[in-house]
Amino acid sequence: MIQKYSWGDPIATDAILSDIPTSSGSPAFGQIDAADGFRYSYALDPDDIVFGLGEANRGINKRGFLYTSFCTDDPIHTEEKVSLYGAHNLIIVSGKENFGLFFDYPGALTFDIGYSHMDNMEIRCEDADLDLYVITGEDAYDITRQFRRMIGKSYIPPRFAFGYGQSRWGYKTREDFETVVSRYREHHIPLDLLYMDIDYMDDYKDFTVNTENFPDFEAFTAQMKKQGIHLIPIIDAGVKIEEGYDVYEEGIAGGYFCRQENGEPFEACVWPGLTHLPDFLDPEARKWFGSRYKRLLDAGIEGFWNDMNEPAIFYSPKGRDDLLSYLDGYGDEKNAFDHEELHARVHGLTNSPKDYRDFYHDVNGKKIRHDKVHNLYGSNMTRAASEAFARYAPDKRILMFSRSSYIGMHRYGGIWMGDNRSWWSHLLLNLKMLPSLNMCGFLYIGADLGGFGADTTEDLLLRWLALGVFTPLMRNHSALGTREQECYRFDHIEDFRHIISIRYRLIPYLYSEYLKAAQNDDMYFKPLAFVYPEDRSARRVEDQLMLGNEIMIAPVYTQNAVGRYVYLPEEMKFIKFLPDGRLYEEILEKGHHFVEIALNEVPLFIRKDKKIPLVDPAEYVSALDMDTLTFIGYTDAVYELADTENSDDD
Ligand code: GLC
Repeated sequence: MIQKYSWGDPIATDAILSDIPTSSGSPAFGQIDAADGFRYSYALDPDDIVFGLGEANRGINKRGFLYTSFCTDDPIHTEEKVSLYGAHNLIIVSGKENFGLFFDYPGALTFDIGYSHMDNMEIRCEDADLDLYVITGEDAYDITRQFRRMIGKSYIPPRFAFGYGQSRWGYKTREDFETVVSRYREHHIPLDLLYMDIDYMDDYKDFTVNTENFPDFEAFTAQMKKQGIHLIPIIDAGVKIEEGYDVYEEGIAGGYFCRQENGEPFEACVWPGLTHLPDFLDPEARKWFGSRYKRLLDAGIEGFWNDMNEPAIFYSPKGRDDLLSYLDGYGDEKNAFDHEELHARVHGLTNSPKDYRDFYHDVNGKKIRHDKVHNLYGSNMTRAASEAFARYAPDKRILMFSRSSYIGMHRYGGIWMGDNRSWWSHLLLNLKMLPSLNMCGFLYIGADLGGFGADTTEDLLLRWLALGVFTPLMRNHSALGTREQECYRFDHIEDFRHIISIRYRLIPYLYSEYLKAAQNDDMYFKPLAFVYPEDRSARRVEDQLMLGNEIMIAPVYTQNAVGRYVYLPEEMKFIKFLPDGRLYEEILEKGHHFVEIALNEVPLFIRKDKKIPLVDPAEYVSALDMDTLTFIGYTDAVYELADTENSDDD
């Protein structure tokens, strides 16, 4: 059952599609104080688990920490961070009582889940203008599915988006991209997607292509496609301020940029230098920005990643000038200078709360200060793109994922988990985000495999890929200046070929389970607690996931490990894809086991009386022979593929 409660004058976010009448009175669980700002509090039972929050730090069980929904471009995801790139305001309490809470509020919202007081949870925000949805159900899974029905169907990508992708910030020229493809093909490592980071553009100007490096871009995309490669360019939120640049000029002429109090377009410095930020909350501006994707679609592009859309602001001219005038005092009296303040001022330039209060959106004729709707910005950028795809390519699935998001954006695209680092702890952190994101509707998801920042190692990349085999988005991406991490850079190229080939062997199953999850408002990744709610041990498992209806995954995430402990809530068939092409199969009883998993093996567990299809590997998705399936698991079982009508775009 779902009940809606409303306070003040909520800003429409379009997260919820169902028409739910507003209830009078107050929710059955917890206390509310809406006198000065808004506070919801609930006394937690020692046994309660709190699920949710999508892309957030820490565990699958969110208890014991503080999280603030305020989309933030922060590339150092250490344990103390309270905000990442998304704002996914769903939590589910599972224990003494079972209920879900969705706070539909697009500004900063804090979830203190047993942080200030271990046995209490408090959710608070500045303005008592919001809708709260309270969902009651049998258990956390049931509540999630009711929530998913409220927020509308999840985005479905084209099948090629389940192929493996290579990315790196720094590829510039046609030759750079061709080299990556030829090295992959030469080593017979499967590859479908090649991501184009900001350097493909002319001076980081959105919707331009550097013509010196790509004299005939259309011919280039066509030539890549012949080799089974889809090019996926990045699009950033900020539009470079430059006379003569048509996107800038159109934006100014149409009044499509966010404005300051005085009506002048706001300026923000990002990769291109000074930019204006399109007002994605204005339907007209959205339509205009979306129409610019057509240029690239016409050149043969079939997918995009939207970036810097929290929006990230390196600094604003106003912030810079304030700092410069402060620095004016610096000089002879160095010792008298307040170093702490200097440090705070320099660091405070980036993504400054002050800047977010300095510009406005036009929402259906109403002027709204940015910080009040901050969490909707990236979502609406992706919505702009998706609405344009529906206009220009209605019969085609276009790949789309974003860095920033709010619930509701799951209908328009997927997300990647932003700038993680080449740390073993991030492999585990990324795994934990997967089911939480599915609760919030985001199904097309994945992390930068191998790690974006810092230098990776061969073993870390192999282990991360062995998790990536199962994530809908399987992309190896890294930052400029870090160790190069294309698979052919390492000693054991055959191991990379093997692991990625297993992904291709599993594509009929993975894509089919994805489609089922999207079509039925279901989850692709579930915590064990959702499938085995009565099993006290399963309820607490944080490093194994159920995938689809048939399998469990348990990746290795520690360096130098030769395997790992797993907990099986029921009998399962343990399968390893061995590097020589054979399968290792062993039936394991319910309980705890240590399983050995070498660096070049891909493990999975098939649930009792289930089986899954496999195909022979190929070097790209459209070369897979999808009609010749073999099955592994419990052979007497039945497996039905999802209805794939309209999903094959090759
Ligand atoms: C941001 C993105 C990253 C990209 C970089 C350069 O940091 O998160 O993926 O490589 O910008 O465009």
